[in-house]
Amino acid sequence: MSVFALIPAAGSGTRFAGGAPKQYAMLAGKPMLWHAVKAVCVPPVEAVFVVLAADDRSFAERDWSAFAGKVEPLYCGGESRRDSVFNGLVAAMADMSHDDWVLVHDAARPCLPLRDLQNLLSECSEDQIGGLLALPVSDTVKRAAKDEAGAQRVAGTEDRAQLWLAQTPQMFRAGLLAQALRQASGRVTDEAQAIEGLGLKPRLVPGSRENLKVTWPDDLALAEAILARRA
Ligand code: CTP
Ligand code: MG
Repeated sequence: MSVFALIPAAGSGTRFAGGAPKQYAMLAGKPMLWHAVKAVCVPPVEAVFVVLAADDRSFAERDWSAFAGKVEPLYCGGESRRDSVFNGLVAAMADMSHDDWVLVHDAARPCLPLRDLQNLLSECSEDQIGGLLALPVSDTVKRAAKDEAGAQRVAGTEDRAQLWLAQTPQMFRAGLLAQALRQASGRVTDEAQAIEGLGLKPRLVPGSRENLKVTWPDDLALAEAILARRA
């Protein structure tokens, strides 16, 4: 049984608003996508598939030589993250078998610590279903509702004890993930949600705050600081 990684990198980064798609924003001297690839391109991962928009011109202009031929671009990104992952998985299935593990990791999470990846692998590789890195919620969580004037007001306080924030990588068997995504609507925002749609319960593996998702422009400086502290 083998382990592969698949990185959806076909988004347009509308919230990041940096001109070019955020996966190519420079971070510690390399494109953000380079760092995401580096974080998952470690044994036992055999190859890293990167799902790109069909009209992506940037990937081919960057230097991927650090990864010794283990990075394979797939120009089949879709409208939604679900579509990109599904299309990429279908294309990558040519090199995988049904029972192989796939680690789906956001291009927008360049700071994934190696120990988090190792924890995910060790906790899920014997699991029937698979799982994901996630963080127990530490802040108090409010539910909002608009009042008559349109202002947001607190409608209630949620019990955070049962709440976790989903991260990536998310680790599932290729065949099961393809089946789950085929049945899922474009509205699922992660692979786990598609697996849940089959009535299965993915395992939650505690991750860390370092594995932030670069979503807003300010997040880039945080990611830069995390990488600088490690170097
Ligand atoms: N992604 C993708 N295909 C899409 C949409 C998103 O491959 N149609 C990828 C992004 O490139 C990113 C990951 O999914 O690596 C997580 O998505 P997100 O952080 O939301 O990135 P964007 O969708 O690009 O940003 P935004 O939602 O702000 O537009
Ligand atoms: Mg998005």
